[in-house]
Amino acid sequence: MTSNRITGKTKLIALLGNPVCQSVSPEIHNLAFEFHGLNYTYMAFRVEKDQLEKAVEGLKSLDATGFNVTMPYKELVLSYLDEITEEARLCNAVNTVFNKNGKLIGHNTDGKGFLLSLEKQHIIAEGNKFVVLGAGGASRSIVMQLALEGATEIVIFNRSKPAALNLMRCVKENFPKCHITYFEIEMDLIKLQCQDATALINTTSIGMGEYIGQSIITDIDVFHSDLTVVDIIYAPAKTKLLQLAEASGCNILNGLGMIIGQGALAFKIWTGHEMPMQLINDYLVKKSN
Ligand code: ATR
Repeated sequence: MTSNRITGKTKLIALLGNPVCQSVSPEIHNLAFEFHGLNYTYMAFRVEKDQLEKAVEGLKSLDATGFNVTMPYKELVLSYLDEITEEARLCNAVNTVFNKNGKLIGHNTDGKGFLLSLEKQHIIAEGNKFVVLGAGGASRSIVMQLALEGATEIVIFNRSKPAALNLMRCVKENFPKCHITYFEIEMDLIKLQCQDATALINTTSIGMGEYIGQSIITDIDVFHSDLTVVDIIYAPAKTKLLQLAEASGCNILNGLGMIIGQGALAFKIWTGHEMPMQLINDYLVKKSN
């Protein structure tokens, strides 16, 4: 590993959001720059909503290589970009921007990053059925990517109807071959839908923050040994859902892989280099212990 000292030639990559202090992206990217000996630096900036446009313009003026966008601006930032990719259009959200010779191109690497983490478990979207808990922003990026990569069936369970119906409509319009349905959260129905599913994916907040120690699945009969159970939460590393699933013999996966996957795709867009995923994984696992 080479040490990277800031010089007159150092290129800037930023994170815009509010808050940003909890983000692991600065650590991930700076570690990866150091690994490759690349002369970039990654800085997080907390930006107020009415300053977002100026912040984006400012980064462009400074000839920053690009930036990440996090909550709550993944949708709002779309208005300030020159072009967006198909993934970003489908998600109506951008998490990565590349400054291509003064043109700001918006990408969304969240869904693809998630699927990369599934691929490491030898699970692919194509031809498979997925049960997804939640219909918020994270769910949308995952569901869209699953459909884009050929999932045959997606079943969404969500507490409230409007967001789920909207997501379902968007999948139907763009991917008519993907069979998508929505139900309110009901254990017997989840159990039924999981019987022939490849993976059950939790994208809701249940399991973290104020919901720590809680699981959206309360009936362990939902789990069976052919089911992979994924929680996109990575702190705690093993949510109550994952603990219950593991005790029932399921293959389990937390959200660390998604964080690293989305970062790796952004890193490649900005630098053309591969992120040292194992190094980053080891660093984040060590940090969470
Ligand atoms: P993110 O960007 O992380 O996806 P979000 O867009 O706020 O965040 O979505 C949060 C998801 O968690 C939603 O599916 C939300 O359900 P609603 O659409 O009904 O709000 C779900 N969620 C949050 N708190 C919940 C709770 N107490 N019970 C069930 N679902 C909850």
